[in-house]
Formats: sequence, structure tokens, C-alpha cells
Amino acid sequence: MSNERGKWGSSIGFVLAAAGSAIGLGNLWKFPYLAGKNGGGAFVLVYLSLIVILGFSLMLGEMAIGRRGKSDAYGSYNNIKKGWGVIGVLGILACFLIYSYYVVIAGWILKYIGIFVTGGLSGDPVNYFSDFIASGTSPIIYSFVVLVVTAAIVLKGVAGGIEKASKIMMPILFVFMLVIVVRSVTLPNASVGIKYFLKPDFSLITPQVVIAALGQVFFSLSLGMGVMVTYGSYLPSDTKLIKSAFYIPVLDTAIALLAGLAILPAVFSFGLEPTAGPGLIFITLPKVFSAMPFGNIFGIIFFLLVLFAALTSTISLLEVVVSFVVDQFKMDRKKATLLVSVLIGILAIPNSNSFGSMADVKVFFGMNFFDFLGYVTDNLLLPAGGLFLCIFIGFVWNRDEVKKEITNDGEIEFPMFSVWMIGVKYLGIQLLSLILLQAVGVQNTALVYALLTIFVVQILCGRLEGKRGVKTV
Ligand code: TRP
Repeated sequence: MSNERGKWGSSIGFVLAAAGSAIGLGNLWKFPYLAGKNGGGAFVLVYLSLIVILGFSLMLGEMAIGRRGKSDAYGSYNNIKKGWGVIGVLGILACFLIYSYYVVIAGWILKYIGIFVTGGLSGDPVNYFSDFIASGTSPIIYSFVVLVVTAAIVLKGVAGGIEKASKIMMPILFVFMLVIVVRSVTLPNASVGIKYFLKPDFSLITPQVVIAALGQVFFSLSLGMGVMVTYGSYLPSDTKLIKSAFYIPVLDTAIALLAGLAILPAVFSFGLEPTAGPGLIFITLPKVFSAMPFGNIFGIIFFLLVLFAALTSTISLLEVVVSFVVDQFKMDRKKATLLVSVLIGILAIPNSNSFGSMADVKVFFGMNFFDFLGYVTDNLLLPAGGLFLCIFIGFVWNRDEVKKEITNDGEIEFPMFSVWMIGVKYLGIQLLSLILLQAVGVQNTALVYALLTIFVVQILCGRLEGKRGVKTV
């Protein structure tokens, strides 16, 4: 077979590539506006707690599945337990769909770099932005450029393409981020924004805030979608999974927090509103840059760093699908990359046009194409992927085998194993069921009853498993 599976060149290369997948528009575009909309510090506090409770655990679980399964997201699940590959297929589908709209936003970032390079934005930023995204061909062309650059990197393979690109882009991203944060927090009155972002007002913590934060944890860490399975499958057997699973969420969260510190103090300093939503970095920030000395330079630095973050994520979204096509259909990597990219290009068109000519074309449930895909991926596929991941680790994969994989066959100490397992098996399943159920409209008492029922099933399955365990030992 000509398709020798790829391998990472070094652990640091793997961590940077995986952190690159995690760090993306989710951190720089979504996190600050979600925090801005959901009560600032209150949202941040809930987010951080969920990263600690669930983020690390699931990151570790996903990586372990990939390294044991040694295949793409579908093949890895299937190799561990026949028939469970469907979980992977769900993830691959989600990556495919997310990629088709992610490139559109990444294309806008590219356009904004161009704006600042050529002297800054002229006219009213609100109209400028809405005119641009509605203008048809131009935003589509920008998203195609992102598609081509991503494909060119993925085409070169795991070590030669993905790892190399991540090793160049990630350090630059960190340095640029620090430059912007220092600029932002030293602006007059920046402290108001810093306080808003970091000081939690506990009265603002509502179930809605918890649900928004939980969804964001999954999106931001690229969890439950087979990314970490795929990336984990390129790991050698002596890598210390626990260590990597620790660094990646730390890096991701650091960048999300820094992004908040880069954006919110500046927004407050210029007397603007933090609640702008998705337009925060495209509308509010250009106002900030145009009001500040050397604003264009800071604009270029900011949007370049966002572009790097977006590219390391588009790479992972494409890789999950390409890896599936290569492993399952034995297609050559080059052909697979081209094929998937062309399909994504076709889907990117209606996504982009959803901000223009197709804005009012209701595809499903009264939503346009972009909103519908966003809804399906964020509210259904992401939590479902996470839920199945927890079920697979907690109830399907043999407990001793899980432990063996995580501890490199007993070489590494993992005294917290049982705590970790309970977290995934009980807490993980409960929290993910909560988001999934409320996303499909189950509310109030019905929601409480549903969660209780699930809890009873969990306990019963746990006991059954315990009995089976005794017999086989
Ligand atoms: N985590 C990335 C971000 O924060 C987005 C992303 C990349 C992603 N790959 C993913 C999200 C896979 C879900 C699934 O921008």
C-alpha cells in the first residue's frame, strides 16, 4: 500500500498542531463576543470551571482513542470496538460542515488584513462590513484563497505540512497576541473593560450562560469531532498523553483569555458596547484601531494573528475528512485533499451568500443556509459527538484497556484514573445530555425527569459492567 500513515516528528510538534486546531476563531472571534453578551466575568468563570471539569478529561479520552485505534476518526472507533465507527462518522460530517462556513469567516479576516495594509477602513465600519459580506463574489474569492492555502498545507502531510506550518504560525501568534494585549490594557480607562471581563457578577450566572459556556468549551477545544482522534492516531506509543492533554487546553484557554483582554478593554476605552455579537471584531475593533495612534499597524498585527489561528484550525478540519478518505477508501492523500476541498468550495458558496443574496432564503426551520449549518453543528452535532465520546469511553471500551492506553501500559502513574473515569462517565454524560436535550426543546420539569432517567440508566449500566468485569477476571 502506498499510503504509509503519517507520524508527528516530535511531541512539541503534536502539541502545537493540536493547540493550533483548538485555537481559532472560536477563541478570538466567538469567545470575546460571547463573554461580552453573557455577562463578562460570570461567563468567563463558568467557562473556566467547565474547562477544568470536562475539557482536560475529554481531550485525554479522544487522544487515547486515536492512538489505540491508529486510524482516522471512523476507523479508530471501529478498530477498538466493531460497529462504533458511526461515532467517528458523525464527527467527520461535523468537521466537513463546520469547515464549509469556517472558511467564509476566515475569508473575511483575510479581507480585513488587506484593508489595514492599504491604509485602513474608510467610511462607516458598520456599513462597510455589511456591504462587504453581502457583496457576492468578493467574499467567496477570499474564502477560496483560505481553502487553497489550507489544502496546500494538508497536501504535504502530517509532519511535512501540518506540523511544520503549526511550528511557524503558533509562536508568531503568541507574540502578536502579547503585543495587542499590552496595547489594549494600557489604553486610558482600560481598567473598566478588564473589570467587566474578569470580575464575575454571580447574579448573572443563568442556565443559559452555562449552556453557552459548555458549547463553547467543545467548540474551542475542537472536542467530540474526531480531531483529537485523528491527530492522536499519528502519535507514537511512548508519548505521554496526560501531559499533552494538559497543555492543549491550557494554551487554548490562555489565548481565549488574552483575546478577551485584547478586545474588551479597548472597546470600553473608546466608549463602545461589548455586546455587538459576531460583528465585534469586524465592526467595533476597526473603530478602535482608527481612533488609536498607529492603529493600522495594530490592525494588521491583530488580523494576521487571527488568520494564523484560523488557518491552523481549517487545517485540522480538512485533515479529519482527508484522513478518513485516505484510510477508508485508500485514496492518495493529494487526490483526497483536492476532492474534499472542491466539495467544501461548493458548499462555501451558499454559506457566503447567506449574508447577501440568500439571506432570506429559509432552507430549514426558518433559517438560512449559514444559520442552519451553525445550528446543526453547534447545538446538535457537537454535543452529540461529545456525548457519544463519553459513552464510548465510559461504557463501551474496556476499562482496563483504557487505563493501559493512557498510562502507556502501566509506565506512567495516573492516580486520578478513577476520578477521571467518573467525570467522563457520569458528569460528562449528564452535562452533555443537558445541552442536547435543551437544544431539541426539552425544558423545565421534563428536562429534570429526562436527566434523572439517564442517571438511573447510567447507574444500572455501571453495575452490569461491574458484574461482567468480575466474571471475566
Ligand atoms: N477549535 C477551533 C476554534 O476554536 C474550531 C475547530 C477546529 C473545531 N476544528 C474543529 C470545532 C473541530 C469543532 C470541531 O476556532
